[in-house]
Amino acid sequence: MGPWTFSRILLSVCRRGGVPWVTGYWSWMTTLTTCVWRAAFWSDALRLLGSTKELPDLILLDIHMPGPNGFETLEAIRSDGGTKGIPVIFLTADEDAGTETRGLMAGAMDFITKPFVPEVLLTRVNHIIELTRLQNDLSSQVTERTKALIEQRERVSRLSMQMARALAGAVDAKDTYTNSHSERVATYAREIARRYGYTPERQRDIYMIGLLHDVGKIGIPDTILSKPGKLDDDEFAVIKTHPVQGDKILHNIPEFPELAIGARWHHERYDGRGYPDGIAGTAIPEEARIIAVADAYDAMSSTRSYRPILSQQFIRQEIVNGRGTQFDPVFADIMLQMMDEDVDYQMSENYTQAALLK
Ligand SMILES: [Fe+2]
Repeated sequence: MGPWTFSRILLSVCRRGGVPWVTGYWSWMTTLTTCVWRAAFWSDALRLLGSTKELPDLILLDIHMPGPNGFETLEAIRSDGGTKGIPVIFLTADEDAGTETRGLMAGAMDFITKPFVPEVLLTRVNHIIELTRLQNDLSSQVTERTKALIEQRERVSRLSMQMARALAGAVDAKDTYTNSHSERVATYAREIARRYGYTPERQRDIYMIGLLHDVGKIGIPDTILSKPGKLDDDEFAVIKTHPVQGDKILHNIPEFPELAIGARWHHERYDGRGYPDGIAGTAIPEEARIIAVADAYDAMSSTRSYRPILSQQFIRQEIVNGRGTQFDPVFADIMLQMMDEDVDYQMSENYTQAALLK
């Protein structure tokens, strides 16, 4: 059984002047399928389509018809969301190449000249219906697969973020005085990146880099991290190993090399007097330069074991002083702009968790 026997065909042809082939082919087609509709005008066809729940699988369309001609009718079919996917075969007595080209360019699937051999028409109709069904099946399969892939990617993305947050929380939990430090640094860094013009995807990246910038502190003894009061030189030397330790840990995530970059170089200074490598200026990766200013800001706007939270005015002056020496001047200026807009001093450790998770 071929598709013809169970397909719905709309035959839109001119019957003016009693063209004998119309009646003949109409009878012939109705012997092949019970689902043939006939309309002399597209308006008739639309009425027909409106009266049935199912659209035709194929439209056989005459070019010369009273009222809108075949090309205009095809344009109407293609501009209607409900019918634009229905394949159309043009029927015409015109044999010139221009008419055929115009018809095919207008979106017709095939072009058959009258009078035609019934078996040829039947074969072409069968092929086109089969082809259209295969295309529609393929298209819906691609849509379904794409949807599934997008959902899977979003799930992996959410999982990555949750893992990064969990790891950042584990780092921050080692020191009661740096509670949520990583979340805040990540949030400030993302805002700097947004104002600098990063895309939403890159902003998300910088947020992740900020979350894990201090992951190397996992390898620092709690006695040093949580020591009340100032650290001595030896203890500070141990603390200063955390960028390299973080780099070692995050190097195991080659899918996201910027994570290791942020961890290793967030304590570098713009003038080259930072650690661990003493690199300067734009030799310091941009991500690390952004994290550096966000990190320093959060350190000053948070309570430490050896001092209370610092005033906005004091921090502002420190950022100004560090502009071009400790910090990249571009990112320092963005941080200053953020501070100037923060009239209630909300950017501090008092930042609520809900605000951080925006
Ligand atoms: Fe750090």
